[in-house]
Amino acid sequence: MTNSVLILNGPNLNMLGTREPEVYGKLTLADIEELCQARAAELGLNVDFRQSNAEGELVDWIQTAAADHAAIIINAGAYTHTSIAILDALRAAGLPVVEVHLSNIFQREEYRHNSYISEAANGVICGFGSKGYELALEAAKTLIA
Ligand code: DQA
Repeated sequence: MTNSVLILNGPNLNMLGTREPEVYGKLTLADIEELCQARAAELGLNVDFRQSNAEGELVDWIQTAAADHAAIIINAGAYTHTSIAILDALRAAGLPVVEVHLSNIFQREEYRHNSYISEAANGVICGFGSKGYELALEAAKTLIA
C-alpha cells in the first residue's frame, strides 16, 4: 500500500505571495510545498505537489491518481465553485479526498459558499491559511490508515 498523497492546486494559486496577500497570506506556493514536504516527512507520508490553471489537466491528474497515491488533498481554487467535472473525477477516483482552502470561503462572497468539491470530500479545512495544508496531511494520514 502506497503512503503517497497527491496535493492538487487549482487556478491562480501559482500567484500566491503576490496575489491578495491580505486574503491568502504572504507565502508562495513553493513555500507551502516546502511546509507540506516537511510535515509529510514527520507523518511518514510522501507528497506529490502539483498546480495547474487548466481544469482538464486537474481532471487528468485525478483520473490517474489511484495508480500511485493513497489520498488526494485538493485546493481547486475558483473551480471549487464551478466544476462538476472535477467533482465527477474525484468521485470516480475512489480515493479519500481532503478539500482545503486558505481563506474562510463562508466569510466571503456568496458565490464562494457553494463547493462542488465538498460533495466528494471526506472533509473540508478552510480559513487557516497555509496551516490548512498541514492539517489536511494529518487528516489524510488518518483516512489512509
Ligand atoms: C481558495 C478560495 C477560492 O474561492 C478562490 O477562488 C481561490 C482560493 C482559497 O484557498 O481560499 O482561488 O480556494
